[in-house]
Amino acid sequence: MDKQSVHGMWSSRTAFILAAAGSAVGLGNIWRFPYLTSDNGGGAFVLVYLACIAAVGLPILFAEVLIGRHGRQSPINTLLNLARETGHSKAWAAIGVMGMISAILILSFYSVVAGWTLHYSWLYLQQLFGGAGIEDAGATFGDLLASPGTLLFWHSVFMLLTIGVVALGVEKGLERTVRLLMPTLLILLLVLVGYGISTGYFGQAVAFLFTPDFSKVDGSVLLAALGQAFFSLSLGLAGMMAYGAYLPRNVSIPHAGVAIALTDTGIALLAGLAIFPVLFNFGMSPTGGGPGLIFTTLPMAFADMWGGVFYGLAFFGLLTVAAWTSSISLLEPPTAYLVERTELTRRQSALLGGAVVWLLGLLTLLGFNVWSEVKIGGRDLQGAIEFVASDIMLPLGGLLVSLYAGWVLDKRITHNELPQLNEGLYQAWRWTVRVIAPLLVLYILVNKFSG
Ligand code: PHE
Repeated sequence: MDKQSVHGMWSSRTAFILAAAGSAVGLGNIWRFPYLTSDNGGGAFVLVYLACIAAVGLPILFAEVLIGRHGRQSPINTLLNLARETGHSKAWAAIGVMGMISAILILSFYSVVAGWTLHYSWLYLQQLFGGAGIEDAGATFGDLLASPGTLLFWHSVFMLLTIGVVALGVEKGLERTVRLLMPTLLILLLVLVGYGISTGYFGQAVAFLFTPDFSKVDGSVLLAALGQAFFSLSLGLAGMMAYGAYLPRNVSIPHAGVAIALTDTGIALLAGLAIFPVLFNFGMSPTGGGPGLIFTTLPMAFADMWGGVFYGLAFFGLLTVAAWTSSISLLEPPTAYLVERTELTRRQSALLGGAVVWLLGLLTLLGFNVWSEVKIGGRDLQGAIEFVASDIMLPLGGLLVSLYAGWVLDKRITHNELPQLNEGLYQAWRWTVRVIAPLLVLYILVNKFSG
């Protein structure tokens, strides 16, 4: 018999796809994907990335969503109940615990970076109405990082936006927000791609993204592509498990999963097609990326181009929207857990979870200025938190989910959750999560530690 979620349900398959795609599409697509592509050989990286999405990302996405839907609770409680139901070890709930910790850590720096996008949007908005705006993008970015007060202000605004949505619940908060924001995101992106086409450098951007030079594919390209597949699909921290808990039984997980992966990948490619023509147009190098590409190089191009203020506003507005729909998926699992485990209401739980994230965000924020001397393993505070959470904990979480779905969870349960797959496809999925995905992920992890 199907269990009920106490948190509510997605009203339809579309609502789930929008929410999950909203989680997947974020800073990872618009900021990280373009610069990883340019640093890793363009088309060859894109091809390997697509292969990673299909071979590892998609099967693990199915696994997370189906575990969530079967359990209908926050990831930790879902796994604990499954242990009771099927008699496996309670230790597997560690996936949920670790996932919740990763989610809180990732959101703590994600919110600070999303705060930058709010700050930039605000500056362009001022410029639109005659304000000074961004004249020297390098100085603007440097000043922003040097100012704890400004960083704190925007980080707080962004966290309040995130808490506000999560506090309103699954239907009135999450679902309503993604229904509004995802189409907005797509429209903004298409406008930006349209501008890219008009620059005359679109062909160059297409060639850059889609002409694979296989001589460039080496171990490190594979590694970067696999890591990006995890981050971009929001896998490994049980966030998709939390969203799966609200998925109606009649929705096909494989079909929805494919739609989510296609949207995520399509938007990353479109972001590349929006950004690269502008950079090529101004003779700027897309390499050397990181925060610099989006927050300094690109605004320099905006400053020189006709309608740059509109473009800047649309671009940073787009980034804000993308980051917002991702951050709500990071706050949802801790919030749902608090609702289930304590007497707190959803509002109080969202506020408490958000307050913890907000406080942790101070580490990232102060690491750019007051504590800029503090280095952990050669990284600043933000870099260290990002490394531990996304480069170690996400792949580890993905590995465990994969092994759990393949070896521990009763075959009847997984089979029952994926009735749309014929026997051949089901077996292909099962052996991928049992063997192929774990081996590939292990390969990333070993490479990270030995390199
Ligand atoms: N997928 C998001 C992005 O691409 C980041 C994210 C990771 C969100 C993990 C939720 C969970 O920006």
